[in-house]
Amino acid sequence: MTNALPKASATFSQDQLKTLVGQAALAYVLPDEIVGVGTGSTVNKFIDALASMKSRIKGAVSSSEASTLRLQALGIPVFDANEVSELSVYIDGADEIDGRGFMIKGGGAALTREKIVAALSKKFVCIADESKLVPTLGAFPLPVEIIPMAAQRLIRQFAAIGGRAQVRLKNGQALLTDNAQMILDVTGLQITDPLAFESKVSQWPGVVTVGVFAFQKAQVCLLGTATGVKTLTF
Ligand code: 5RP
Repeated sequence: MTNALPKASATFSQDQLKTLVGQAALAYVLPDEIVGVGTGSTVNKFIDALASMKSRIKGAVSSSEASTLRLQALGIPVFDANEVSELSVYIDGADEIDGRGFMIKGGGAALTREKIVAALSKKFVCIADESKLVPTLGAFPLPVEIIPMAAQRLIRQFAAIGGRAQVRLKNGQALLTDNAQMILDVTGLQITDPLAFESKVSQWPGVVTVGVFAFQKAQVCLLGTATGVKTLTF
């Protein structure tokens, strides 16, 4: 299904596509409820759009300090994840999504909290531009949040399955997540069985969260394309 777009234009910039899918996601937000909110540049567009209906929702559960700050700056109340037992919907972006709704996430280092909020939610609505749609997961370096003392052992463990893992840096130092842990970015993987991969890597000692979202996959993807917002359902 392709939604109508403002004024026909053959191409949109990536930023415009993010705005379009961010706005389209409002259709999934239920009145008087708390909405799960992801992290990233696409979600920032959604948060900005959400401000237009802030008086009609209770608030949000956020997946990062960055999204919390943006929500609060727009006057949207932010609830702790422990204050809710279930959310109707979680809106978040992805670094890659395949034709089954399986995703790679964590490019913004928020994967652990994203997986927690996704697990609280009945429906995951992924918002992405079409560059994110892939046949097989793995071209994007796979983010893995880890306990720092396990880094070198985990780098060797990824090498044993053909992956090249590197500690993510910021200003020359290991980047620390909102949970004060480190991120490995792993290249060279072709993740043909995301459920089996997520199960296996999640059990490696020192792994906090692997950025494959197979158990918390998307049910819907609002995909920004040159011809409009396409709705994919899985
Ligand atoms: C953050 C994420 C983001 O959803 C992902 O990186 C996509 O971000 P963007 O919308 O900026 O492309 O997983 O941890």
